[in-house]
Amino acid sequence: MKHYEKLNEYLSNLAVLNANLHNLHWNVVGNQFVQIHEYTEKLYDDVFEKFDAVAEILKMKGEKPLTKLSEYLENASIKELDGDRFSCREVLEIIEGYLDDMRKLATEIRNEADEEGDFEVVMEFEEHVAGYSKELWFVRSMLA
Ligand SMILES: [Fe+2]
Repeated sequence: MKHYEKLNEYLSNLAVLNANLHNLHWNVVGNQFVQIHEYTEKLYDDVFEKFDAVAEILKMKGEKPLTKLSEYLENASIKELDGDRFSCREVLEIIEGYLDDMRKLATEIRNEADEEGDFEVVMEFEEHVAGYSKELWFVRSMLA
């Protein structure tokens, strides 16, 4: 049940992303401020929903979701974001990286769950992967 460990890594990433996306939301500057401010809000709302959903999947499986901020920092593959002032372009580039990393990890989890016949995880994570693909299209279109 290797994918359960990855689910906790993924959960930890969501916890770190919640903080990082708020940093970008508050500290973006530039002529697209309003769009980026609103876009990052949409993203952190989505992250927060996924955070709860993933923890509840772990509970459903009789596994233990990590709950402490210190554990999230230890287990996340996405690192805390330094800085308190970001240009619009910087924000989009940072977000592109996050979406790409999350899509890769979500795909690994989906595929490992499939090998183990874990349909609930497959179903949930297929949606996550599709969501990241859509956001990547948005972000890359804004960067183009
Ligand atoms: Fe806000």
